[in-house]
Amino acid sequence: MQLLPTFDLILFGGTGDLAMRKLLPALYRRVACGQISSDSRIIGAARGELTLEEYVAQVRESCQEHVGAEFDEATWSAFAERLSYTKIDAKQEGDFVRLSDILRGREECVRVFFLSTAPDLFAPICEHLARHGLVTPQSRVVLEKPLGHDRASSAEINRRVGAIFEEQQIFRIDHYLGKEPVQNLLALRFGNTLFEPLWRRGRVQHVQITVAEDIGVERRADFYDRTGALRDMVQNHLLQLLCIIAMEPPATSDPDAMRDEKLKVLRALRPLVGRDVLTKTVRGQYKAGAAKGQPVVGYLEEKGVPPDSTTETFVALKVEIDSWRWAGVPFYLRTGKRLQERLSEIVVTFEDVPHSIYDRPDTAHALNRLVIQLQPDECITMTVLAKSPGDGMHLKPVNLSLDFSETFKTRTLDAYERLLTDIVRGNLTLFMRRDELDAAWQWIDPIREAWQRYDERPKIYTAGTWGPAAASALIGRDGFAWRNEI
Ligand code: BG6
Repeated sequence: MQLLPTFDLILFGGTGDLAMRKLLPALYRRVACGQISSDSRIIGAARGELTLEEYVAQVRESCQEHVGAEFDEATWSAFAERLSYTKIDAKQEGDFVRLSDILRGREECVRVFFLSTAPDLFAPICEHLARHGLVTPQSRVVLEKPLGHDRASSAEINRRVGAIFEEQQIFRIDHYLGKEPVQNLLALRFGNTLFEPLWRRGRVQHVQITVAEDIGVERRADFYDRTGALRDMVQNHLLQLLCIIAMEPPATSDPDAMRDEKLKVLRALRPLVGRDVLTKTVRGQYKAGAAKGQPVVGYLEEKGVPPDSTTETFVALKVEIDSWRWAGVPFYLRTGKRLQERLSEIVVTFEDVPHSIYDRPDTAHALNRLVIQLQPDECITMTVLAKSPGDGMHLKPVNLSLDFSETFKTRTLDAYERLLTDIVRGNLTLFMRRDELDAAWQWIDPIREAWQRYDERPKIYTAGTWGPAAASALIGRDGFAWRNEI
């Protein structure tokens, strides 16, 4: 494990949900691996007046909870030594004076400003940093999603942040790109000759991308109700997965070579506008039902959600890509909260054989399928037909599986561990470039506009199911079914 260069990481939103659940446990794990030098510092920054002891106690509790059995006292002491806290209110100039004092004399080391705050604070924080002379050539700024709430607001954030930081200093996070199976999908596609000839129209029948969650809105009702599933999940995670599946092979592993190819996919998405939106998208909202065998309330009864909210907690879409490679191949995307199970997967279904000479299962079960599962397990499975043992040629589907934890017998890095180390090293490959983000919003905005114009209200589904029946009809109309329904 290579030691990272010495850094100061200033974590704005340092007491927030993301910091506590993901970022600090990820940094803890990197300390455990010996990757973070003893002179590196992790500086939590938030509005609360906390003492260092209070902050350290909070972080300890969350690390214990999220690191689980791997938590140990020796690593904790090493981690806690690198931890500090400073109160920063983005509206208080004086708080940035204190930050300057903390950072003084460390201009040569890597400086990471990680903004895990509401997006309307991104530009003001960067402007404060610039006014106080805190932006050094070795600085990076990390912007957590959502970056704005539409194309115009995202462009405005990018413009103001871009006036202070160079594009190569800006790390726009989409943590789905940091997940191990997504990396493996790249390895599969661009490290082997096997798939490339099949990766196109004529060979691929259709593609499904599912990101299903069994949780509800948790403690984020306020944010979620203003955002909805389209902006929370589709605009970023699902479109990025789509790009990784659909992009052309980049010429090199250079960050911009990859980002150029992803951008081409986003620009080739057939726009969903006007009434087309009503037939190619499904909005849903969960009502009371069950999760993990326990009764749960509906979205409208969640604490902090207005009782008449029309925010969607589920979206399914049919997406087409107007390119030589993908013309005529439908991509079906769906995501939702309070679905039957936590499951994220990409399913590439190949065309049927042109002529069958053997006794085979019905077509839905006979097709070759590549399933890249991101959650709950990290694995890639290829379904092929094989002869079932015994008399006669009866074909049955069997799975060729690559289970990463089984194969490599090692714990894979959590997405945030990978992304944080890339940020410190300055590697932009897994981060979204400004033009990519703009293209994604450009495609998303008309969908929301059409929902509003035609007053498309979410269809109600019971918590603990796979979403509204209309989502099955969306894919069913083309003669296909979601993998869990086959
Ligand atoms: C976040 C969304 O980006 O991704 C959340 O804001 C969602 O609503 C989360 O729960 C899902 O991430 P993961 O890694 O748990 O699948």
